[in-house]
Amino acid sequence: MTLPRLTFVGTGYLGATYAVCFAELGYEVLGFDVDTAKIAALSDGVVPFHEPGLGVLLRRNLAAGRLRFTTSYAETADFGDIHFVCVGTPQRADDTGADLSYVESAVTGLARRLTRKALIVGKSTVPVGTAEWVQRLVDKHAPAGLGAEVAWSPEFLQEGFAVQDVLRPTRIVAGVRSDWAATMLSAAHRGVLDLAAREQREVPVVVTDFATAELVKVAANAFLATKISFINAMAEVCEAAGADVDQLARAIGHDPRIGSRFLRAGAGFGGGCLPKDLRAFQARAQELGVGESLRFLHEVDLINQRSRSRVLRRAAELLDCPTGPAGPDFGNTRVAVLGATFKPHSDDVRDSPALAIAAALSASGADVHVYDPEGMGNAARVHPNLIFEPGLEEAVRGSELVCVLTEWPEFSAADPVHLGRLAAGRLVVDGRNCLDVAAWTAAGWRYRGMGRHAEPATDLRPRPVRPAIPRPANRSVAAG
Ligand code: UDX
Repeated sequence: MTLPRLTFVGTGYLGATYAVCFAELGYEVLGFDVDTAKIAALSDGVVPFHEPGLGVLLRRNLAAGRLRFTTSYAETADFGDIHFVCVGTPQRADDTGADLSYVESAVTGLARRLTRKALIVGKSTVPVGTAEWVQRLVDKHAPAGLGAEVAWSPEFLQEGFAVQDVLRPTRIVAGVRSDWAATMLSAAHRGVLDLAAREQREVPVVVTDFATAELVKVAANAFLATKISFINAMAEVCEAAGADVDQLARAIGHDPRIGSRFLRAGAGFGGGCLPKDLRAFQARAQELGVGESLRFLHEVDLINQRSRSRVLRRAAELLDCPTGPAGPDFGNTRVAVLGATFKPHSDDVRDSPALAIAAALSASGADVHVYDPEGMGNAARVHPNLIFEPGLEEAVRGSELVCVLTEWPEFSAADPVHLGRLAAGRLVVDGRNCLDVAAWTAAGWRYRGMGRHAEPATDLRPRPVRPAIPRPANRSVAAG
């Protein structure tokens, strides 16, 4: 069987990455977007966002003639056997769930111009029930008698690792309604499955109904967010109890039922997915009459917000700032903020804890100097009033406090002795627990992490512990 021809409708982060990687797997691919500037850039071999490894693959596949981009729905409809819908589903302005207007215009624009039976596959993260609605849209707008079908196949890309995540996914989820749709989706993933076979890996394929496929994505993100907030809640407890959350996370993570990933305490989660998906999921559960089932996600969100305020508190404590009812007053203190993106290896500053904390420091009077290896352009567009420095040293020079808020390798690898000579004060808040405590304290820095001991981990001296409240002996419990 020849490979089906694929289109990716919406060439933002998701669609562009998929289009390029599927061309790399040998498919003929057409990327569509209504944004002419984006299409022009991609056609010229320029990726309009930072994603390691993607530019090389883009240029290679453009040159090989397997990959093209267009702004024409008619051309897209004519080209593809399978159309992947990859447009954004932002949070609605009134905060009542996901805005599906881009999905609606993409599906309608495409369906109207279909000339033969095709499969339209939703990839965007959507509220459960959307695939049904998309099938109705297709039935309404596609020329009569074509029998175009819908399927849902969520993606699990992590920014910074997106190329690997597309070529070597952890699983493929296929929400389908017919054998034909299942066969088509299987043909669309043959490249991925063949690659796995050559590398002697297995990629599990879960074939299911629409609603389950849609829920898999939001459930996965809700679980990841909960895991991060769990460890951040533990960080709060560790701080109160004199314990160390990093060591705690390592110890519990050794249990394979828990696992060690996504247990890094710090300033909390951000980005274009987890925070928005969490809120949209709660809104949808309310509509379905099961809001109570997801009430805990509200707490997950609150813990996440608190993680940001805890960084500010750490900063105020180190600087010994006066704190009023409106919060600490940093009174013109020069603060170096290292990191603006929501995580390293990305230029994305959407809902970034680092940038939100930098803005809050500035709003509380601090003279904030920000440096980020990749996110400066995006950060400056969102917060033009912050001062952006061209390098790490320029940000640290003359600062009384350094806040590390994104765990870029450049920051973890920086020499604290050298930075100590540049800074006006050796105070550091490690908002991502990514610095070597021993090295920084040995270089004379007063260090505060997030639920982490301020001395080297090998220091086994007893630490001050708030005494436990003695409980009366329970004589009914047998000894031993
Ligand atoms: C996430 C999901 O991981 C991905 O499967 C989905 O498709 C999209 O959303 P991404 O937004 O790229 O991907 O970021 P991710 O790597 O999940 O990190 C999210 C946030 O959590 C970041 O701000 C990160 O700093 C934070 N995080 C992550 C922690 O604070 N602690 C951790 O242990 C892990």
